[in-house]
Amino acid sequence: MKTVLITGCSSGYGLEIARHFHAQGWSVVATMRTPREDVLPRSERMRVLRLDVTRPDTFAAALAESGPLDALVNNAGIGVVGAFEATSMDLAREVFETNTFGVMALTQAVIPQLRERRAGVIVNVTSSVTLARMPLAAVYTASKAAIEGFSGSLAFELASFGVQVKLVEPGYAPTTRFASNGGARMAGLVPPTYAPFAEPIFAAFATPTQVTTEADVADAVWRAVHDTTGQLRFPAGADAVALAQAR
Ligand SMILES: NC(=O)c1ccc[n+]([C@@H]2O[C@H](COP(=O)([O-])OP(=O)(O)OC[C@H]3O[C@@H](n4cnc5c(N)ncnc54)[C@H](OP(=O)(O)O)[C@@H]3O)[C@@H](O)[C@H]2O)c1
Repeated sequence: MKTVLITGCSSGYGLEIARHFHAQGWSVVATMRTPREDVLPRSERMRVLRLDVTRPDTFAAALAESGPLDALVNNAGIGVVGAFEATSMDLAREVFETNTFGVMALTQAVIPQLRERRAGVIVNVTSSVTLARMPLAAVYTASKAAIEGFSGSLAFELASFGVQVKLVEPGYAPTTRFASNGGARMAGLVPPTYAPFAEPIFAAFATPTQVTTEADVADAVWRAVHDTTGQLRFPAGADAVALAQAR
């Protein structure tokens, strides 16, 4: 039986990825900052473990308890929307600590076991902001674009050990907790001078023509893990697929 470790499983995409791999017969290590067993099916193949991607001291215990992994899904992430001028460098660093350095640190912790067994897949969940430029998302885009570059390069050196690296690029999902989880972080990031620019953009965000569902992302991660063609990027959701096709 194959085992996947997924970060950020308390809600949204991560929760659905965990459910999907479990439903397909995998053993799932669903990691969370604050473990909650009640959101996932109770099963011998489902383990909920504590892991905070910004706290490398939480990695060793989770990885020891997980046992050998066949796949790592770096899904945990936080958002920030606002004018760059109003975004403090402390906040920019906080976003990078989770979205960028957290992904890199956990990947580095997992590589040795995959390299030694000469097998396995690492899937990094970025965003459709890497597929087309979007306004008021400079810091968030930077944090995800860094992982796109990181993954593309890392894929070469790990391929020489039989380990694959993949990118899943989801579009906008109004149904996850992404916006509410980021609400406090974004307060005050649109100063009055930016309001005339920002208002129509927020109005457009509120009425998207195409969106991404949690199931779209779970399906894309599943396809990425099972890919045998060497494809690096997997846009997920109708909006992301449309942006990828327009490139
Ligand atoms: N929703 C969208 O529109 C959208 C679009 C494109 C890409 N994405 C990306 O998709 C991924 C999942 O987002 P989502 O939409 O499912 O949002 P979500 O519902 O807010 O889920 C994010 C998850 O990440 C976890 N997390 C945050 N910081 C963490 C940390 N330091 N260590 C471990 N876990 C942490 C959260 O845990 P807590 O419950 O502890 O906060 C939560 O489980 C993120 O990487 C996000 O950037 C989202």
